Amino acid sequence: MRGEFAERALILTPLGRDDRIAAAMLAEAHMRSTICPDLPAFLIGLNEGAGFGIVAEEALLRTDVRDLSAWIDSQPEWSDFPFVLLTRRGGGLERNPDARRLLDLLGNVNFLERPFHPTTLVSLARSALRGRKRQYDARTTLMELRDSEDRLRRVNETLEARVEERTREHEAALAQLHEAQKLEMLGQLTGGVAHDFNNLLTPVIGNLDLLRTQVGNNSRAARLIQSALQAASRAATLVQRLLAFARRQDLQPQSVSITALLDGMTDMISRSLGPTIQVAISAPPELPPARVDPNQLELAILNLAINARDAMPRGGHLTISATEEDVRKDGRLAPGRYVRVCVSDTGVGMDPLTLSRAIEPFYTTKGIGKGTGLGLSMVHGLAAQLGGMLDLHSNQGEGTTAEIWMPVSEIMPDPAKQDEPVLARPNQCATILLADDEDLVRHGTADMLRDIGYRVIEATSGGEALRLIETETDIDLLITDYLMPGMSGVDLARQIRSLRPAMPILLITGYSTIAEGPGAELARLAKPFRQTDLASRIAGLLDQACENVIPLVRPG
Ligand SMILES: Nc1ncnc2c1ncn2[C@@H]1O[C@H](COP(=O)(O)OP(=O)(O)OP(=O)(O)O)[C@@H](O)[C@H]1O
Ligand SMILES: [Mg+2]
Repeated sequence: MRGEFAERALILTPLGRDDRIAAAMLAEAHMRSTICPDLPAFLIGLNEGAGFGIVAEEALLRTDVRDLSAWIDSQPEWSDFPFVLLTRRGGGLERNPDARRLLDLLGNVNFLERPFHPTTLVSLARSALRGRKRQYDARTTLMELRDSEDRLRRVNETLEARVEERTREHEAALAQLHEAQKLEMLGQLTGGVAHDFNNLLTPVIGNLDLLRTQVGNNSRAARLIQSALQAASRAATLVQRLLAFARRQDLQPQSVSITALLDGMTDMISRSLGPTIQVAISAPPELPPARVDPNQLELAILNLAINARDAMPRGGHLTISATEEDVRKDGRLAPGRYVRVCVSDTGVGMDPLTLSRAIEPFYTTKGIGKGTGLGLSMVHGLAAQLGGMLDLHSNQGEGTTAEIWMPVSEIMPDPAKQDEPVLARPNQCATILLADDEDLVRHGTADMLRDIGYRVIEATSGGEALRLIETETDIDLLITDYLMPGMSGVDLARQIRSLRPAMPILLITGYSTIAEGPGAELARLAKPFRQTDLASRIAGLLDQACENVIPLVRPG
């Protein structure tokens, strides 16, 4: 319906001059009208839009009015089109059956007998138009109502979707929490066991090391000791992985260029994977450094590469890439900048159950004696301990991607520092104070030290070590265990520093608790260690101490 026609009158009085007279009367009263020569023209006018109709009864009698009737029936719910019907015969409806029929046909109709007075026509026309305007108002209200209903429905629909999404997020967060709690509990359990085993392995390896130098020409004994040492160091590796999973590894985090680290690993990875696997390693040179323990990270990446190799028995592609990522909101990572190393393979992938359990310690699908199930556990623990995470993506038959996320370091790496070899140059005449509450471990370490050539004074506690330092004046270096009842190795070191600030101190530990906290500045040696490790650490510390002494220059 066109807006300009909304208030016009449609006039259908085909006989005589009624139409022009009516149109003139309406024009005088400032009302627009259109004269229609016949019913079809009237219908066209109705479809274009009109305020009311003035129709002579003879125009509808003996005529096919089905189209008009259909138009009236099909009006929208707000519309009840008003008619003024010009009749000839007077009297009530009961005496005029034609009028009765037309009333039924037109519905909203006012009768006007001819000849009509202009005032009557104009007043009927005005009231018809008023009624029509009220219908237009109703139409507007109805449309507004529909609009707001539509809006409400749309809000409701999105509300449902939003509620569903939030519920999904909530459920995912709960599952994540459950997973994290499970791993945390497993970590605590594993960490305790691993720590005790680590302590036991220290004298085992130490004593075997010493025994090796005692057997002389007895080659059978040497072989037995060698194989015992091999088994012990395999055990030490396992224990190390357990400690790593429990996030209790004694890490030495530093600023490391991941690009350089991956570059340095390329040959080793290609060799470990064999000729059937194509290796592609890419890391941009402008990648910021990450704060990691480079040795442990190499081990982690190697573990992932070996997992990939095992998943591609018939060959495939291994892609290792490193990128910088900005984390704003993530349930698993603190906001900040991270370096992400992705290790992707085109192997067999994992089904959902394997994927959900892959990180658990001892979970393996590789059969007894083939896999320890500690590879991913180690990577997970390492990443978490560094303040990052391990994220696994895999679908059966579609390969696997393991991502290690590590926090970006703000300090530039010192390339000289990373591979600095420490040469063992034992200072033969030095005296070492050794504090450890566990007799077995202390004896083992003391024997190693004496074998190197040092003089050793043993203390079974921090308190005893403090007393000894006051009475024995020629002690050059302190070696202390970290975890001792009463006074920890870090507390002892602090007290000794206040008495003898220049004395070098070496902390022996199997625990990571001090990697970040107090005592992090102390030189450390992780358990279990070989005699050569011990020798080189002490030699380094004693050398450093000598360099710090300013010789007295006597006037000559
Ligand atoms: N890249 C991979 N593709 C397919 N499955 C994998 C992949 N990496 C790990 N898995 C699955 O996760 C399990 C656990 O892996 P994890 O590295 O912890 O132990 P493992 O490889 O079985 O043993 P180990 O690391 O001691 O050799 C694997 O046994 C294997 O089922
Ligand atoms: Mg593995």
